[in-house]
This record gives sequence, structure tokens and C-alpha cells, in this order.
Amino acid sequence: MQFHLDATFTLSTDLSSLKKEIQSFAHSLPATLFKKQEGTTLSFTIANVHNNSFTLSIASEGAFRPHNALLQIKNAFSREFGKTHHIGVRDITITRYEMTFDLEKKPLKKVTIPFGTVTITGKQATLSLSNVDEEFLRRNYIDRMISRIKEKVENQYYEGKAEFWKSIWESKEKKSVWSKDPTEEMVKKGWLQQGPTKGKWFYRPQAAAILKAMEQIAINEVLAPLGFQEIIESHIVPFDIWLKTGHMEGMPAEFYYVAEPKTRDAKSWEHFVDLTKITKEIPADELQKNLSTPTAGICYAQCPVIYWSFKGKTIAESSLPVLVYDKTAISNRYESGGRHGIERVDEFHRVEPVYIGTREQLLDLRDKLLDRYKYVFNKIFDLEWRMAWVTPWYMQQAGKLGDESTQDTGTIDFEAYMPYRGNRKDSEWLEFQNLSILGDKYIGAFNIKAQKSKLWSGCSGIGLERWATAFLAQKGLDQKSWPSTFKKYLSALPKGIEFL
Ligand code: SER
Ligand code: ZN
Repeated sequence: MQFHLDATFTLSTDLSSLKKEIQSFAHSLPATLFKKQEGTTLSFTIANVHNNSFTLSIASEGAFRPHNALLQIKNAFSREFGKTHHIGVRDITITRYEMTFDLEKKPLKKVTIPFGTVTITGKQATLSLSNVDEEFLRRNYIDRMISRIKEKVENQYYEGKAEFWKSIWESKEKKSVWSKDPTEEMVKKGWLQQGPTKGKWFYRPQAAAILKAMEQIAINEVLAPLGFQEIIESHIVPFDIWLKTGHMEGMPAEFYYVAEPKTRDAKSWEHFVDLTKITKEIPADELQKNLSTPTAGICYAQCPVIYWSFKGKTIAESSLPVLVYDKTAISNRYESGGRHGIERVDEFHRVEPVYIGTREQLLDLRDKLLDRYKYVFNKIFDLEWRMAWVTPWYMQQAGKLGDESTQDTGTIDFEAYMPYRGNRKDSEWLEFQNLSILGDKYIGAFNIKAQKSKLWSGCSGIGLERWATAFLAQKGLDQKSWPSTFKKYLSALPKGIEFL
């Protein structure tokens, strides 16, 4: 990498009489501060020394990043000139900064970055900045800008590419009893009703009973036998949690955001109430005035808040592996084009187990979970389904593709054949569940510790709507055709409500 940086140092007093001393300070810098940097060429020059400022220019080539040294130089300067001449540094501003670095690949289209300009020729990028203050340096923005440029180019190659997918296991073919879309048929029967806003559903007693049976099966057949304990988490996720998990940068266009009122003071809401009473409409502008900017969103997946609950804690060895699940928080995702039936929605119900333990404990748990899941899908649902390694969900949710290397840790998708979508080979199977082991990604992000062991974590998403549609798409709505093992959980549907 090549760097050229000009910084203005503003001082507390006039230093024009000290030109010589300042020059020799500049000459001494490479030796005193940076002698350990191998393979780096480096030069420091000081110019424009007058009154109470001077310009320091740093040119370098190699791994050394001059911006990371500026605060150190400031301290060194203060040490040297504070004692002898009572001069302190008021502030530093980078007036001009050019960084040239290599990219792995040539960009496919233009790349832009906030706070600076990027020009790219071939695989070489140049980032130019001006008027950078100390706060900017202290917050480490520059290194992140370089990483972001590299990432944006990298991402251009992912767009439109097929996701990583590698089959692990498949069941035998099963004879389906029908090939209809279960959502449409349930709507016709009055078991289900389109919700009041897009991508939401109202489950009438029959459909509700089916989802609840799915939940019971997940708990009784999978989670309870393995020793999972239920927790109840908050449904509203503050942004600092999503900053740690990476969702904030990965999915900002998919959250449902939560806005708090600016105040509960009735006086502030009086005009809003007046307008609402008189016009019988919601005065949008007036409402906006009374709302705060969101600082949270509605649950997107349940695990982030579970990790948050362990933040900074040291878990006793006797509590490992930690096995918990939430079945209360409802997940909301703003879908755009893809909504379909109850299987692709903006609001869905899920049981999410989360596990924290040693690598060995989690790999063992994965086998046990797989056994329990196989039991449910083979013996209780009698499904035609398969499992595949896919891009880990946290990468997916950050717009990335996975690869073969992500397998000790990684995500397994469970997919069911959906007869209404066409033949087995060409139609898209429904992802009706996933299971992930995620290494220490969230353990590190939330600073979770054990007394002795190194921890890993993982989670598994059990979507009730997904389980229900996978089952109904193959087994139909007529209970006579349902496997008797399933009927143990739902012997008869509620009679529901008749409308005239
Ligand atoms: N957190 C996982 C996901 O979002 C499992 O629910 O898919
Ligand atoms: Zn999760």
C-alpha cells in the first residue's frame, strides 16, 4: 500500500523560532517510533512552520498506515516540546490524504464511499480524503473505509450468483395425496384469512390448531428430550444488538422499525387528537412530529436477544452446554416481491433453540438434534425432504455467499418437496427449517465466557408456518390422510366459525 498524508498540527504557542528543533524531531521519528516496521519505506517531512502551526507530510509504502501513527506522533511531540518549550498540540487535521492499495479483483462497476472519493484503475484503488479531524482518526474510520471498499468490490462478484448448496441426505420419494397450494385451500375453507396488512395472516381456529400442534411436536419431540429450557425474550430489538450481530449492516431494508412517541405529555398530542377527531383520518405529518427516530426494530430472528442476555457473563462449567429456546417473539421481515401464502410472509411464528457450549458439545448436539428432527420428519410427518449445507445464515443475512470450507461450522437447510410447485427435479423445494453451528462469532461479539472452556454457539430456526405448509402440501387438508403419528398431536380440528 502507498500512502501520502499531509497533516496540519496547530499548537498552543508560536514555534517559528524552533524550526531546527522541529526538523530534527521529524527526522528522529522513523527511528524512535517505527523501527519495527519491516519492508516499509517511510519519510517524514515538516514544512510551513510559522506562527503556531506546521505541516507534517508522511509518505510511506508497505503495511504501515500513517493515519494510525498520527496520534502517537502527537504524543511524542507533546513529550518533547512540552517539557522544554511548553508547547502543546491543540489539534491535528489531515488536510490531504491519498492511499493507494491493491484489490483482489477488478471492480465490475463504480464504487463509492462516504467521507472520501475512490478512483480505481485496474486492480488498484486510490482513496482520497481531506479535512480529517482527530475524532475521525480516533474512531478508526479510515481503516474501515479501506475494508469497505474492498468488500464492495468483492460483493459485486456475488450479486446474482447461485448460493452455495451441497446435498447431505435425502429421504425416499413419498406419495403425495394431492398437489394443491395449502394456503389457497385453507382460505377457501375459512381456516385462514389474509391479515390486515401485507404478508400477515389471521389464523382461524383450524389453522391455529395446526400451528400449535407443530409447536407441541417441536417441544415434545425435539427440545424437551434434549434438555432445552424455555426462556421468554423481548420482541423489540435495540440497534446496538443488531450492530453486534451484523444484522444492522446486513438487513437494514428488511426490518420493521419501532418508533417511540417523543413524549407521553397529552398537551403535545392535543393537536394530533383534534385533527384525528375532526377529520377521522390520521394526520401523518402531525404524527411524524410526535415520534422519535427509531432506535429499535421488531424481532427478525430470536437468537440475537438471547445472546444479548449472556453479554459479558461467565457461564459455569456445570451449565454447559446452555440449551434454551424462545417460542414467544414473533419474527417480522419486510419482504418485497417474494410473499407467498403462509410460507413466505412478513410475520411468522418460530421456535428458536440456541445452544452455547464447547466445540465437542455442540458437534455432539448437532448429531442429536439431527436424530430428533429426522424422527419428526420421517416418523411423525412422513415427509419427503432433504438436507443440504448452505451459506451460513449470518453470511446470507449479510449478503454473502458461503463455500465448502464452512462446514464444521455452518448452516444446514431442511427442504421439503412441495407437490403444488411442480415436479421434484425442477421445482423449488421449501426451506422449512435450518440448523447452524456458528463457532465463536457471537460468543466474541457479546463477550460470553466460561470458567475454563472455549465456547461456540449455534441456533436452529423452527418455523411453524414452514413446518405446517411442508406437511400440508404433501399430506393435504383431509385429516383422514394424515399419518396416525401426527394425529396423536391433532386428533380432530376445532369446528371453527361459520359465516353467513
Ligand atoms: N437465526 C436463524 C435464522 O435467522 C435461525 O432462526 O435463520
Ligand atoms: Zn438464530
